Amino acid sequence: MASSEAGGVVIVGSGLIGRNWAMLFASGGFKVKLYDIEQQQITNALENIRKEMKLLEKSDALKGSLSAEQQLSLISGCTTLAQAVEGAVHIQECVPENLELKKKIFAQLDRIVDDRVVLSSSSSCLMPSKLFVGLAHVKQCIVAHPVNPPYYVPLVELIPHPETAPATMDRTHALMRKIGQSPVRVLKEIDGFVLNRLQYAIISEAWRLVEEGIVSPSDVDLVMSDGLGMRYAFIGPLETMHLNAEGVVSYCDRYSEGMKRVLKTFGPIPEFSRATVEKVNQDMCLKVPDDPEHLAARRQWRDDCLMRLAKLKNQVQPQ
Ligand code: NAI
Repeated sequence: MASSEAGGVVIVGSGLIGRNWAMLFASGGFKVKLYDIEQQQITNALENIRKEMKLLEKSDALKGSLSAEQQLSLISGCTTLAQAVEGAVHIQECVPENLELKKKIFAQLDRIVDDRVVLSSSSSCLMPSKLFVGLAHVKQCIVAHPVNPPYYVPLVELIPHPETAPATMDRTHALMRKIGQSPVRVLKEIDGFVLNRLQYAIISEAWRLVEEGIVSPSDVDLVMSDGLGMRYAFIGPLETMHLNAEGVVSYCDRYSEGMKRVLKTFGPIPEFSRATVEKVNQDMCLKVPDDPEHLAARRQWRDDCLMRLAKLKNQVQPQ
């Protein structure tokens, strides 16, 4: 049975991320209206979502307790923004990563929404203070940054504007949990948010190690995929410290001097020089040639692995 959630969700921008959000909200029983500036994008999105959901159902990977048909019946297209936002409890903006475009959308929304709906942006790296500046409904605004592909990678970073109301953060957090995502509260905005800051720290050291001839590009990737990454799918770096000694205090007693010694040898920010770019690319292309077909096939394989990992994670740590 489709649940009768009070109020629905609006997706503004029916591209890659908008489609994923639509599927996630429908899996949680929410009515979803898909809006886009291009009618064809909405048509494509609806077709693509139908195909995806049927495949997911077949491989027993469809989220939520509703059937694919029930979830599909919750999603509809909408060609005017004013019509779309009527009665909505949450609006998830998913237009391209362009500050001026997003500001324009939020200014449009600001004029037509009530005082209750949450205005949320999927932005990967635009600061909430820049995105939501000057809006009358700024208290209701937040960034909810998903990770690609959001259907299989549940993390969502929630980043407030300095004037975002605590209730907006709480409501968005609860909503994300309700649709099976894993939200984190970023307490203050910072460039790169948290996920990309961690990702860039890893890329940075991987790049330096390759540039300095310490390890090959494919071997540094193996250190992550067959080493650190095995643990990180289940526990983060701080819990790793906790478990690798008799708690964090004992870990720091034992290892902090060693960590500081090694950290002092880290080099400066990489320049991403052409020579190293080519060296890394050559190694990557041995495994995955960089033509569209090979890249698409490898992405498909990656998503399939992530789907299986998501199933495993659900089995070992039921929520
Ligand atoms: P996309 O290019 O696939 O889709 C953007 C959609 O917005 C298109 O359908 C386009 O027609 C529509 N659009 C453009 N102008 C519009 C307007 N004025 N009104 C309504 N719709 C409009 O982009 P994608 O990849 O889905 O990214 C969307 C957002 O999600 C970006 O902010 C991006 O940074 C963020 N994001 C993307 C991730 C990714 O891996 N692609 C991961 C996490 C966040």
